[in-house]
Amino acid sequence: MKQAKLTLEGKEYEFPIVIGTEGEVGIDIGALRQNSGAITFDPGYGNTGSCRSAITFIDGEQGILRYRGYPIEELANGMRFTDVCYLLIHGHLPSPEQLSEWRHQLNHHSLIHEDMKKFFEGYPPNAHPMAILSSMIGSLATYYPDEEALFDLNMIRLLAKTKTIAAFSYKKSIGQAYVYPRNDLTYSSDFLHMMFAVPAEPYGVPKVLDNALNLLLILHADHEQNCSTSTVRMVGSSGANLFASIASGVCALWGPLHGGANQEVIQMLEQIRDDGGDYNKYVDLAKDKTSDFRLMGFGHRVYKNFDPRALILKKAADDVLNELGVNDPLLEIAKNLEEITLKDEFFIERKLYPNVDFYSGIIYRAMGLPTEMFTVMFALGRMPGWIAQWKEMREEPSGRINRPRQIYVGEQKRSYVPVKER
Ligand code: COA
Repeated sequence: MKQAKLTLEGKEYEFPIVIGTEGEVGIDIGALRQNSGAITFDPGYGNTGSCRSAITFIDGEQGILRYRGYPIEELANGMRFTDVCYLLIHGHLPSPEQLSEWRHQLNHHSLIHEDMKKFFEGYPPNAHPMAILSSMIGSLATYYPDEEALFDLNMIRLLAKTKTIAAFSYKKSIGQAYVYPRNDLTYSSDFLHMMFAVPAEPYGVPKVLDNALNLLLILHADHEQNCSTSTVRMVGSSGANLFASIASGVCALWGPLHGGANQEVIQMLEQIRDDGGDYNKYVDLAKDKTSDFRLMGFGHRVYKNFDPRALILKKAADDVLNELGVNDPLLEIAKNLEEITLKDEFFIERKLYPNVDFYSGIIYRAMGLPTEMFTVMFALGRMPGWIAQWKEMREEPSGRINRPRQIYVGEQKRSYVPVKER
């Protein structure tokens, strides 16, 4: 298969075929408008490949997710998040020397400039931490110049400082003193230490929490050309610096149809619990075409069989809650919802299965994280993916500014008649 043919108003056009390493087929319509005058029309980009990428492979029909070729199930089974960051950004696993240098760098760049602490004072106490996170990441550009020689260092700074910014935004929201990062802790333990330690008493991060957070971060680390990652690439394609590009990705992630869904899942489960636990009523509501209620944490643009991350998280939710001795009625409601939808024609027909957000919120809750922080946790995990995708885009020799076209459906030319003043 080398070419695709298109017939438009009796004329035939040929287009080359692009084939990926896993056999996916794309029709390269780069010359379509120039040759035929037409453009493709694909609102929501469900059928549009926006780039070539060697970072993450997803087969939504078979429930496959791989980072740089490695199955997510293998990476999630014992790897540290920092090492997955290296893999995503550099494309290969580090040597022992590279690994210790990488971890050292990530620890030693986790402080934020003392002046940035003052920024937090300007936000109201109930500010959503995603708003703080995006503006603080954008503000990093005022401290660290956007020079090619500094790209690698800026990527490390961003990874290292995001966890400090995220933890500080939580401390700010509860009015507690900021806890500084510690270089002797793992990435996930350091974050939990900055979140939960208080000066008055010693705090040791329980191993179960360190492992649970490590797993969650790995599962969120990249997901190819989703809404926030495409935003990062879109903004970066104009030549905008790393911090500005990633800040815009954080904003895109915030929406309830994307990363904001994990917060919405818990709110939905709480609503079901407070309403007497009748989950059937909410399943019916989600199926009712006159209502705009959706089961949050269900459905995915790409996964049409199961979300492999949700399978891993379902088991992790059981393990973590058991180990912590937490009995959360929301977990029961969640499992019941999943069970009933798996047998329901509406959900089967539309291929709607629990996604990554469905069980992650329950684990975050058991870890003691407040609901408003859930999407921040997603952003923390997605950081290496955004960075790797931004880097790949920058290194693409034929990279062009992203600039989609449109089908104009507004008024045709008309003459301006001034409004007569009374
Ligand atoms: N609950 C109930 N019905 C749902 C649904 C949900 N969570 N998600 C999709 N549907 C239905 C739609 O109503 C539509 O039905 P129709 O064909 O009868 O009109 C059909 O399934 C297709 O939905 P659509 O919105 O076109 O799919 P999409 O690929 O554009 O959207 C999501 C994907 C993820 C945005 C969507 O499934 C959703 O809103 N899920 C809830 C939010 C969420 O969990 N987001 C996190 C994603 S990781």
